This record gives sequence, structure tokens and C-alpha cells, in this order.
Amino acid sequence: MAVAAARVASSDFDPFSSETRRNPYAAYERLRAAGPVVRLTRYDIWAVPGFAEVKSVLEDHANFSSAGGAGLANYFKQKPWRPPSIILEADPPLHTRTRAVLARVLSPGVMRRLADEFKARAVTLIDPLVEAGSFDAIRDIAEVFPISVFPDALGIDQEGRENFLTYGAMVFAGFGPENDYFRELMAKAATVLPWVAAKCQRQALRPGSFGAQIYQAVDAGEISEEEGALLVRSLLSAGLDTTISAIGMSLYSLARAPAQWAVLAGNPTLARSAFDETLRYDSAAPFVFRTTPHETVIAGVPIDGHEKILLLVASANRDATRWERADELDITRRVSGHVGFGVGIHGCVGQMVARLEAEAVLSALAARVSRIEITGDVAYRESTGLRALSCLPLRVIPK
Ligand code: HEM
Repeated sequence: MAVAAARVASSDFDPFSSETRRNPYAAYERLRAAGPVVRLTRYDIWAVPGFAEVKSVLEDHANFSSAGGAGLANYFKQKPWRPPSIILEADPPLHTRTRAVLARVLSPGVMRRLADEFKARAVTLIDPLVEAGSFDAIRDIAEVFPISVFPDALGIDQEGRENFLTYGAMVFAGFGPENDYFRELMAKAATVLPWVAAKCQRQALRPGSFGAQIYQAVDAGEISEEEGALLVRSLLSAGLDTTISAIGMSLYSLARAPAQWAVLAGNPTLARSAFDETLRYDSAAPFVFRTTPHETVIAGVPIDGHEKILLLVASANRDATRWERADELDITRRVSGHVGFGVGIHGCVGQMVARLEAEAVLSALAARVSRIEITGDVAYRESTGLRALSCLPLRVIPK
């Protein structure tokens, strides 16, 4: 099927550039105005910027496959750079089998047991920082908290944990075209990847942990031993840099909106919905990819088979046809239904863990701090897959 050039909008927008990372929202607005599907000429891929279309593509796994790869690389046309994820980059029936295991391991009952532990750890981290009065919210909070609680929940010991930062960053840095940031991280691959693989083996995992429960599914014959190790790796890959980046971006959004921080400080029980609103407002995971297994259609536009489709979830979350005052952060709005965690069969299986972590951090800070101020330059990491800060200097004014 040939692309009907006359009817289809195109743009030279670059979703992976440093400029886009600094402020993507004006470009997203232009894309939404251009049409429901826009050809991105730099990469020869399709972009979908509006809420209704992003949601309907995510809910249609038969016409929009995940097996073509989670990033820009098209596994239907080229060999993957690493063995594909058996959950994120899989379609049914493989996906149905692996997802059932992770959904059970990360069930609401398990989350309730973790909540108190996460809250206590957050208070221990935050209180000395509040006493100090100023700190770097990325180096001292966002990069510390998930690494201190999540590998524990997975069942991995403390030794060598700094490797997780590199590994987490590596996974998402490779979503777009190769850049220096990705190459720097990959230079450490020879040490970090075998270290991570060893940590995902059955004998390395604490009994009762998420990791050990994945191996119980192996013992029950639901998945193979090899698949068990890959699923533990999936939790590490998908669960670390996402939460690190999202906690950083959440603090950044709130620091830029003092009136919203005042609402949260007045009522720290709003921490969970405040986090979701920051994910809607300025998401750490700005897009996901799908690949067409065959010819199909998006909003009446014919799409060839084996085409990459960039679903701009961060743009969908600012779409004025779905959200009132879409460009305003409002932590009291009804934010459910945002697509910052995706939706459909691949919707984030770890979203309850992410919310628990962020809620613990935000409520510990909100309980102690009446105002936060940005005191210096803020910088973005050059990751092509996530929107993440490398530094966020803050001063906090205690209650
Ligand atoms: C705020 C932090 C997080 C964000 C923004 C986020 C975002 C997302 C998004 C957008 C998807 C959908 C991908 C797609 O449709 O292609 C996803 C899937 C996934 N997430 Fe998360 N995530 C976060 C935290 C976590 C955590 C903490 C875990 C693990 C405990 C996790 C594990 C996964 C897994 C395994 C998938 C694949 C699910 C599937 O394919 O069925 N995520 N996440």
C-alpha cells in the first residue's frame, strides 16, 4: 500500500534531539494540529500525537505489534541488538504467559505489604536532607531511593549496586539513534551486563522476594528457567531508570509550581495523585513504539506493514480534547485515564510499585517542607528513551 502523500501530514520533528528534550510541548502541539498521524521525515516513521489515537492504537495489539522492538530499531527488518524482552517486546500468546507471572508477583496484596517499608525508608532518606536545607534532588533523592528499595524487593543483595544505575540508563539510552551518551554507557557493557545476568539467577535471589516468586512459576512449569531469568531482568530493566527519572521529573514539576507544592504540603495524603498528575504533565516515559505486522489504518490513514509507529504518550497527556487546562499542573484534578503508564495489554505491570515509591518520597518531603525552590541550573540526561534530569539543585524551607 503506497502512502497517500497528498492526504498525510509530515514533519521534520526530531523526537530524540537535545532540543526536544528541553521542551517538547510546543512541537507536540504542532503535531496534534497537523493531523492524527504524521510522517516523521528524519526517521521515516509514523508519529501519533493525539490522545484518542494513542489510546486506540495501544488497545489494538493485533494491528500494532510489540514484537517489532520497543525502540526505533525495527526487528521486523533488522536483527535485534540484544535478545528481545519476552514481555515488553512480545505479542500474545508468549506475552499472555509471561505477563500472567509478573501480574501475580506484583499484585495489590504484595504492594500493601511493601508500602510501610517504603514509607519508613523515605523518611530516613528525606529527614537529613531537610535538615541540611539544600541538596541535589537527582543525586540525593531520585538516584538513591529506587536503588535502595527496588533491588531489595526483587531479592538482590547490596554488593555492587552502583552497576544498576549504569544498567538502567543503558536500557533506555538505546531507544533512539545512537549518541555519545549511549556509547559511553555501552563502553561499560562488558562488565555490567554479565553482573546483571548473574544477579538474575535463581540462587542469587532472596527467598520470598519478587525474583524468587518468578522462579516459583518456573517450578510450577509456567515458564522455563531461562525465561525466569529474563523476567527478573525485565523488572530491573523496566523498573529502575523509569522510577529514577519519574521521581526527578515529578520534583521538577512541583518545584516549578509553588502554589501546587503549597497544596501538597497542606495535605501530604495527596502525594499519590500529585505524582500521577506530574506523570501526565511532564512524563518520564514520553513515548512507546509499536510496529505494524501487516497493512492497517490509523484514523483513516493507510499504514503499510512493518512500519514503526511512535506513540507520543506525553503529547496525548496534554491533548486539550481530553484534558481541561491541559498545560497546567493541577494536583487536585481527576487524573485517572492518563497514558503515562501506557494502556492495554502492555500497560505498565509495575505501576503500583512506581506509585508506592514516588508517594513515599513526595509524602515524606511534603510532611516536612512548606516551600521548595530551584537554586541553580537544571540539566537533562541525553537519554533518547526517557526524559530525565541529571541535576536539580533545590533549597527547601521547613515547616
Ligand atoms: C514511573 C515509573 C514508570 C513509568 C513511567 C513506566 C512506564 C511504562 C510504560 C509507558 C509501559 C508501556 C510500554 C508499552 O506499552 O510498550 C510500561 C510497561 C512495563 N513496565 Fe513500567 N513504568 C514505570 C515503572 C515500572 C516499574 C517500577 C516496573 C517494575 C516493577 C515496571 C515494569 C514494566 C514492565 C515489565 C512493562 C512491560 C509490560 C508488558 O509489556 O506487559 N515499570 N511501563
